[in-house]
Amino acid sequence: MRLRFSLNGQAMDLADMDGSQSLLSLLRGLGFTGSKEGCGVGECGACTVLLDGLSVDSCLLPAAKAQGRAVRTVEGLAQGESLHPLQEAFLEAGAVQCGYCTPGMLMSATALLERHPRPGDAEITEALEGNLCRCTGYQDIIEAVRLAAAKPERKP
Ligand code: FES
Ligand code: FES
Repeated sequence: MRLRFSLNGQAMDLADMDGSQSLLSLLRGLGFTGSKEGCGVGECGACTVLLDGLSVDSCLLPAAKAQGRAVRTVEGLAQGESLHPLQEAFLEAGAVQCGYCTPGMLMSATALLERHPRPGDAEITEALEGNLCRCTGYQDIIEAVRLAAAKPERKP
């Protein structure tokens, strides 16, 4: 199938694509390897991307579902040399250890902060509940989202 969608703000027009493959597989095949495959069955959140601003497990989503829609991945967060405030906050809070969960965490947190610029702890926890981390114990990740929410000049 021919697949047209926006990827990190860029128009994609891809011919002869297998629309039944997962969106994760499509993205990684295009070189967008920030999104990770962990479980492959919708349980770990390592593959989280945004589809029209909502966080989705790209391992479960057929690529065809991206037709005409806006997909955002972790590669789209930084602007040139400038990290996204959430990325800065993850570094400041020491919320990255092995890093495997980090792209998915960042995308879930992005969706949250775009929806609720000043979330409480309960909202942060709820937004990240589909993202598993084997390393950090979650407190540093939650602190990073708090820090990002408190940054005065946070970009959308
Ligand atoms: S790889 Fe998609 S939820 Fe685990
Ligand atoms: S930092 Fe290793 S899984 Fe989260």
